[in-house]
Amino acid sequence: MEAIVLAAGKGTRMKSERPKVLHEIFERPLLDYVLATLADIGVKRPNVVVGYGAEEVCSFLRKWKTDSRLGVRATAVWQQDQKGTGHAVACCEKSLAGFKGDLLVIPGDVPLVKGQTLIDLIRVHRTSDLTASVLSSLRVDPTGYGRILRAGGRFYAIREEMDASNSERGVQEVNTGVYVFKAPSLFQALRKIRPVNQKKEYYLTDTIEVLIKNGRRVEAFPFASGIEGMGINSRRDLSEVIDAMKTREIQYHEQHGVTFVASDQTFVAPGVQIGRDTIIYPWTYIESGVKIGRHCKIGPFAKIRKGTVIGDAAEIGSFVEVTRSRLGEKVVAKHLAYLGDAVVGTGTNVGAGTITANFDGKRKHQTRIGKKVLIGSNTVFVAPVAVGDGAQTGAGCVVTGGSKIKKGEVVVGVPARPLKNSVAKKRRK
Ligand code: UD1
Ligand code: CA
Repeated sequence: MEAIVLAAGKGTRMKSERPKVLHEIFERPLLDYVLATLADIGVKRPNVVVGYGAEEVCSFLRKWKTDSRLGVRATAVWQQDQKGTGHAVACCEKSLAGFKGDLLVIPGDVPLVKGQTLIDLIRVHRTSDLTASVLSSLRVDPTGYGRILRAGGRFYAIREEMDASNSERGVQEVNTGVYVFKAPSLFQALRKIRPVNQKKEYYLTDTIEVLIKNGRRVEAFPFASGIEGMGINSRRDLSEVIDAMKTREIQYHEQHGVTFVASDQTFVAPGVQIGRDTIIYPWTYIESGVKIGRHCKIGPFAKIRKGTVIGDAAEIGSFVEVTRSRLGEKVVAKHLAYLGDAVVGTGTNVGAGTITANFDGKRKHQTRIGKKVLIGSNTVFVAPVAVGDGAQTGAGCVVTGGSKIKKGEVVVGVPARPLKNSVAKKRRK
């Protein structure tokens, strides 16, 4: 399957210096969602049309190659002037020279479209032997979208909002901007479209009327439900999609036995695992890829970032940030702490104000803390540091880079040094 992703537009309505497709939802650019969905349905070499902010978009595409989705690489296609969606697709003709099959076209600003929906569209396109199949969507408020026009149920055109008559504007079936075309007929039709419309652009949507005139069969299928077909044109749209995505994720976790004390004030990215009977308190932010065990208490005001794994019955409280760390079962970090690049053993208590100073200005280093360690308030670990099982640190102590605290040892002060044995013994009692 070949595909074209349209990503050359400026996104004027975003009022941004950043190309629209690089705006993020939970730390992932819009374009990343679309490319990942394409990869999921087996598109190995999507053609991505770039223009506005091409350097930034290409630099994202280069990094994307080395992502976990092995073997999938995007080909950037240059659209010098952004003369419209039809012109953008026409720019791919060379890159797709000789390709006679079905071509999927998708905008880079529709992050919620599901792979299964694309598969359904491709299937019906093939079984009905159509030249163009449009993915449409029914919207209560169709404002801003191209309308699907039908006469006696027969689909005959897509009309952009600006060019639509009042009665056409009342139509609630809209174009999602996702299509499957027979490639040769599409490129033929693109030669016939003209920029005679309010925006003076070459509209991809105008190919529908051209194809019908040429006796080809086209159809629109309202397979995109609810918010799925939503295109992001403004900050308001972006915020709506973020809301929808986070609500969907939280509902999923609720169905799997997780309590959210204030789900509206909690952010959970897609791709998070949370065990049964864990309670998430308000204003907690959990990034993609995080794994949290069962019977944990997280938040309020906790930030759990990428690469973090938290064991069962752990408690992560207010103003605690955890990133790229592995916390064992029953680890308690209840207030004001930063754990970055840390490994913390079972049952360790992380005192208020604990910091793993993981960054030396150039590189990140690890802090390895054993089981049942008692970390005193305001301890700073200047990584790399290793702390043995059952050790203790005194309040305000600074464990300097490269130190190894032995099993059961008690350290205090700045820089941290072992307490004399007799004092240490008393302390442990
Ligand atoms: C487009 C459709 C509209 C549909 C809507 C769905 C057309 C004419 N209109 O409108 O029917 O309801 O999407 O979201 O196709 N782009 C380029 N080069 C260009 C212009 C645009 O690559 O010269 C890219 C943009 O980066 C964007 C996509 O094409 O990712 C769609 O462009 P946009 O301006 O957002 O189109 P809409 O007005 O939303
Ligand atoms: Ca759009």
